[in-house]
Amino acid sequence: MAVPEAAHTNTNVVHTNATSAKREGLRVDRLPLRTLTTLGVGGDAEVWEVRDPTRLQTLLEQATDAPYRVLGAGSNILAADAGVLERIIKFGRAFNSLPVLDAALARADRHVWLSAATPLPGIVRRTVSAGVTGFEGLLGVPAVLGGAVAMNAGTRFGAMSDVLSAVELFVDGRLERVPASDLAFAYRHATLPAGAIITAAQVRLQASSVADVQANLTQVDSARRGQPKVKSAGCAFKNPPQDSAGKLIDQAGLKGLRVGGAMIALEHGNFIVNLGTATAHDVCTLLERVRTHLPELEPEWRIWGLPSVEGEDATCAA
Ligand code: FAD
Ligand code: EPU
Repeated sequence: MAVPEAAHTNTNVVHTNATSAKREGLRVDRLPLRTLTTLGVGGDAEVWEVRDPTRLQTLLEQATDAPYRVLGAGSNILAADAGVLERIIKFGRAFNSLPVLDAALARADRHVWLSAATPLPGIVRRTVSAGVTGFEGLLGVPAVLGGAVAMNAGTRFGAMSDVLSAVELFVDGRLERVPASDLAFAYRHATLPAGAIITAAQVRLQASSVADVQANLTQVDSARRGQPKVKSAGCAFKNPPQDSAGKLIDQAGLKGLRVGGAMIALEHGNFIVNLGTATAHDVCTLLERVRTHLPELEPEWRIWGLPSVEGEDATCAA
């Protein structure tokens, strides 16, 4: 059964109604999740954007004083057509540390702290150009750093956890830094404390040669060539041990299967794509169709606001 992701409640803070004065450094808007996710489906939610890194602790205390979820680049999320009731917390542009990375690469630093909204494609591009190795396997992952750490994003050429030395978390109402080894990273998995928000991560910058790093990148690029280019949330299912979900879906003859505006991609069986008009209901129904053929497959996506997706009737009722 695909279990919808639970929202978080911070039991450590006194619940308040944020006044406009208290919201300085925060921007609160009601926004459609379809505009905040790469799959492009999902209804409205109250989005709390944290904008001031100098007041991070205070702003996160305010943002977490009601049930919440955390949004990165929205590239692994299926959100319900009815939206979600919880607050969505995201980090604004001030949490993009690409300039900090540039300075660290210029100084040949060995480690650097980067904030949660730093775009992964920018990290990959810059490290490759500098001849720093370890990030090549993350080519093509359209995440921001916080989401890449939370999911331990990667490919068979390397994962986020390979280059992490420490992570900063907002947990139980305060910021703390923990060694990456505390988070027991595994395939598409990080063991985060309940309700933890990743605010920054310290990555290792290991020097190599530009030629070697470029050669690694070319390998990853060619492995990704067969992936669809239209709206998706990447692979829908995790690979079973020693197998490929995409291959199993392909062998079951399911490529091209369509529900409304959602389709199993012709290029790769593990991608469900939005042809332009897909709803969460369409996507969810398709997800379940696959699972009637291949019940062993476990979704990789984080499912927000939809009820348990077991059996088609219950599945997409929201
Ligand atoms: P989101 O999708 O926004 O969130 C994902 C999860 O992380 C949610 O549970 C969210 O609550 C949590 N989260 C996000 N930020 C934080 C934070 N700061 N603190 C705590 N929790 C947080 N993935 C791969 O692993 N390998 C691939 O090769 C790959 N290819 C892809 C290709 C395409 C075209 C697309 C669209 C997706 C692909 N993905 C891939 C999936 C996706 O990019 C990854 O899962 C990525 O790590 C999600 O990061 P995000 O920033 O978009 O997080
Ligand atoms: N295959 C088929 N038919 C298909 C798809 C794949 O026969 O429709 C075969 C391929 O020919 C190959 C094997 O299955 O022999 C594996 O396929 P591929 O190399 O495409 O890798 P994958 O296991 O399907 C994984 C990750 C991707 C990542 C690629 C990078 C998972 C679930 N998927 O895909 O990650 O980009 O490797 O090579 O781990 C994601 O997690 O969102 C994601 C896209």
